[in-house]
Amino acid sequence: MNDSRRPMFAANWKMHMGPRGASEFVAAFAELYAPRDDARIVFFPPSISVAAFRDASEGRPDLELGVQDVHEAVSGAHTGAVSAAMAKEAGVGWALAGHSERRREFGDDDATVATKVNRILESDTRPLLCVGETLEEREAGQLETVLSRQIKAVLDTLDGHGIAGLTYAYEPVWAIGTGRTASADDAAAAHAVVRREIEMRGGPADAVILYGGSVKPANIDELLSAHGVDGVLVGGASLDPEGFAAICSAGR
Ligand code: PGA
Repeated sequence: MNDSRRPMFAANWKMHMGPRGASEFVAAFAELYAPRDDARIVFFPPSISVAAFRDASEGRPDLELGVQDVHEAVSGAHTGAVSAAMAKEAGVGWALAGHSERRREFGDDDATVATKVNRILESDTRPLLCVGETLEEREAGQLETVLSRQIKAVLDTLDGHGIAGLTYAYEPVWAIGTGRTASADDAAAAHAVVRREIEMRGGPADAVILYGGSVKPANIDELLSAHGVDGVLVGGASLDPEGFAAICSAGR
């Protein structure tokens, strides 16, 4: 990691934690983790729990908030969906785009992800763009092709200002929720590919790139030490206040 920057620790709660669970988590986490300047913490609860999270974290502006998805349209007849502008209005500063579960379960293809990133930026919210290969793609030697395609699809739709506003997460699909983690070397190699693609398309050399996939207290030190890893996006292990507090305190 670039020493001049603080690591980012992001929690993707997926479809866990209703409003009550979110409030209880914040109360517990706030006891375990004091605000500090040398880390950035962002939570992605389900949309339905954003208000409860925001209320529970009043007085803790260091605990930033995001949504896990927004619709690609600005507004309209899209039952069940939430727009980027609504998320912003609800007090959210971040939004995930391109998470592999959205790609797989909800059919978000590269073009949809690109549109969503545009909506997020237009709403003055920060996109966290997730990219990553499946096991099949990795074994077929397509790591670079897949990462390049996923990044190009989004960056080609943005101007320089938009590109500068992106944060990235490299999440190998085979490591998500499986207990299998990329080694530090695997992560470093993939992050180098992501960084090269970003730079080739006019993005900053120091873009923030998180690693995600079965991150837990036991492997956080190794992953954070990998070259080019600027932080982590944590699913399962972020549901436990103690475990996530330990992750957020890693290396310091
Ligand atoms: P995991 O999920 O930590 O449970 O593997 C990570 C993610 O999907 O963002």
